[in-house]
Amino acid sequence: MEKFSAAKKKKSKGKKTKVSLARQASLKALKQVLAGQSLSVVQPQIIDKLEDSRDRGLANELVNGVLRWRWRLEFLVSSLLSKPLKQKDIDIQLILLTSLYELIECRTPDYAIINEAVELVRKSGKKWAASLVNAVLRRFTREKEQLLLSLDNDQAKYSHPDWILTKIKNDWPDDWQQILHENNQRPAFWLRVNQQQSDAARYKTLLIEQGLESEISSLADHALKLAHGVDVRTLPGFVEGALSVQDVGAQLTAELLDVSVDHRVLDLCAAPGGKTCHLLERYQTIKHLVAVELDEKRMRRVAENLQRLKLSDESGEHSRAELIVADVCDYKNWWDGAQFDRILIDAPCSASGVIRRHPDIKTLRRESDIEQLQEVQSEILYSAWQMLKPDGVLLYVTCSVFKVENQNQIANFIERNIEQDAVEVKIESDWGKSCDYGRQLLPGEQDADGFYFCKLKKISAE
Ligand SMILES: C[S@@+](CC[C@H](N)C(=O)[O-])C[C@H]1O[C@@H](n2cnc3c(N)ncnc32)[C@H](O)[C@@H]1O
Repeated sequence: MEKFSAAKKKKSKGKKTKVSLARQASLKALKQVLAGQSLSVVQPQIIDKLEDSRDRGLANELVNGVLRWRWRLEFLVSSLLSKPLKQKDIDIQLILLTSLYELIECRTPDYAIINEAVELVRKSGKKWAASLVNAVLRRFTREKEQLLLSLDNDQAKYSHPDWILTKIKNDWPDDWQQILHENNQRPAFWLRVNQQQSDAARYKTLLIEQGLESEISSLADHALKLAHGVDVRTLPGFVEGALSVQDVGAQLTAELLDVSVDHRVLDLCAAPGGKTCHLLERYQTIKHLVAVELDEKRMRRVAENLQRLKLSDESGEHSRAELIVADVCDYKNWWDGAQFDRILIDAPCSASGVIRRHPDIKTLRRESDIEQLQEVQSEILYSAWQMLKPDGVLLYVTCSVFKVENQNQIANFIERNIEQDAVEVKIESDWGKSCDYGRQLLPGEQDADGFYFCKLKKISAE
């Protein structure tokens, strides 16, 4: 794992205060995520507001690191404390978790990490805890090796909540350790080159001219992996629509949908529009694509992406996609009755395949969510099927690795399909794993996130 260094920022007095700003921001952000807020909401409100990019870098490192390794760090803290801290002292617990993470993973000198932690405790007004935090962290530095060897349960070892761990173990008896390992890695930074403007090889050359290293994927035609994270807005041609940020696994969708000239395409659960835009970039012959999304605010992002990628004009009036803000399951109220040749369902799901990209999922997702998600997925599938032409193909996609949302969902659909007009079209490929129904790309394979795909064809009535 790449070590993060904040050591250089310690030399002058002024800079020291700045590093503390990063730590204060991390503490605030972590508190909010543990209280149920998504990191994608918290980050722009707290971390992105830090003026110094090094502070933002450190705060992001600490927040993501603690959310990733939380269960291991909690195990270590509980081994070091004689009795657990009270819930009202969650800030002290978080300072301990963050400092342990830094002591294990970052290059900052131990003494600086401990001093900062004690300083932060004092700032929190809980002066009584300063000596406790000091003693716990100092003991950790002395006993680090033994403590790290004492991880005697899978929850601490693989740093996942028990319910996710059990579910992945049951679903993937031969791969669970690898999946959990991959979930704890930093995600790769993937770009999708807009093939209407360029291609992966040409864009790679452009990046080299900017001093940026990248790698062309063998999984998807227009995917490029950047060697290091950058602010995407600074990349050549970004504003003009030359590229998008999209995981290489997600980029498989457009190819799998296999759209031909004159096909009417329905893109369900479309926001923020990654796959909508990719479909329009890839299939220039698409004359009619309808994109449906429940969340109006998120749908605005689809419109913005279409504009930036030059797939619609600025007013949105001349767009290659018709955008409908609606509940898919309410289709009787928004659908005009003309069936589609191709339907994509990018279903709302647990997102258990993208944990490495969104480590807050491990904290925020509850086991009880899964049943609700399954119900929504099943309703969306049923609704979509009504809108599919005979001989048409539906592609069901999730970014989950849980079988209940994937192959079992499809098995239930086929079983309950009264017309018996649904057959699977097997996805033959050299990536992923073939399932009872559909195909699973597991997280980490070719540095992709985890995605599930299944193709269903509607057979014509005899
Ligand atoms: C996995 S995301 C879609 C990602 C998107 N296809 C892309 O590639 O950028 C799922 C989306 O489904 C939307 N959604 C959830 N339930 C829905 C419903 N009943 N009808 C329409 N959209 C729904 C969510 O708001 C969310 O934006």
